[in-house]
Amino acid sequence: MIVLGIETTCDETAASLVRGGRDILSNVIASSADIHERYGGVFPELACRRHIDAMLPVIEEAIRPVHRSEIDLIAVAKGPGLVGALLIGMQTAKGLSLAWKRPFIGVNHVEAHLYAAMMSAPSSELLAHLFPSLGLVLSGGHTFLVKILSVGRYELLGTTVDDAIGEAFDKVGTLLGLSYPGGPKVEKLAQKGDPSRFAFKAGQVKKNPLDFSFSGLKTSVFYALKDRKLEEEEKACAAAAFQETAFADIAAKTALAMKNFPCHAIFVGGGVSSNLRLRALLTEKFPSLPIFWPPSNLSLDNAAMIAGLGYHKFLESPYSHPLDLEVQTRIPIA
Ligand code: KG4
Ligand code: ZN
Repeated sequence: MIVLGIETTCDETAASLVRGGRDILSNVIASSADIHERYGGVFPELACRRHIDAMLPVIEEAIRPVHRSEIDLIAVAKGPGLVGALLIGMQTAKGLSLAWKRPFIGVNHVEAHLYAAMMSAPSSELLAHLFPSLGLVLSGGHTFLVKILSVGRYELLGTTVDDAIGEAFDKVGTLLGLSYPGGPKVEKLAQKGDPSRFAFKAGQVKKNPLDFSFSGLKTSVFYALKDRKLEEEEKACAAAAFQETAFADIAAKTALAMKNFPCHAIFVGGGVSSNLRLRALLTEKFPSLPIFWPPSNLSLDNAAMIAGLGYHKFLESPYSHPLDLEVQTRIPIA
């Protein structure tokens, strides 16, 4: 079964063909991050205009490996995301579904980030033996810690009460004078810094010890830098201390969550999962557990994860979504 995935939740216009939920035939991504750079964050209206221009060329390129008639299903990210951006992907998917007489299905973008990590499991059969496991979604808009019972069945264990982890990276990037998106630049700067030069703390949430809070950490970075002209070396130390504190907090909460059930593996998805320091830290902290990360190009927003998850959702209930399916700017993961 070949699925065309479509992704337009934020500032990436993406389309991809995936066979059998795992085999990526194409993965085309057009980002509008260049125009958002000068505003320090995503400018929704400009993202939408880029989606309109990019949508059809991106799909044309993505479907090139096959004949149109070989595409069995169209999967689209129905949310969460920016409403205007979501509508463009959704309307395109519905239009293609009507024109090509193929079923269409809407999937949850956050769940798809987790599925991207599952695509790294050696086979679907092996994947089934890795549950229950822990899932971490670490992206620009979302921070979730979940228990995974199977593809599509999750129990929410923790989420952020304020900033998402990627958002905190981007805001700290701005404080350090780095352009949007700051995450990868903070990582690069942190490589040259000594994290012990600043004593930062991540927030603890009384109501649920598995919840996250990064806004206090971000404010600590703000006060450490305030009214001072920092040398490049000091900036690197602040970046390293921020990154180390945030990741140590994620690792500690992952360890705590694991105490409550027999956990067979960890799956980490979302843009922040491409951070090499995070990968090293979790590998060091959980040496006896297999940890799965998205294949290359599938950490950040992409449509292969949408097509892959769409395949599973369709097998589970082989009904096309009706053409009045609406986009959802917010959807809980569980
Ligand atoms: O998953 P994603 O593409 O979009 C959302 O669904 O939100 O994640 C983008 C986020 C941005 O905040 C970006 O700064 C962050 O992921 N990011 C990183 C790294 N690469 C991307 N954060 C830390 N280290 C990185 N290497
Ligand atoms: Zn995303």
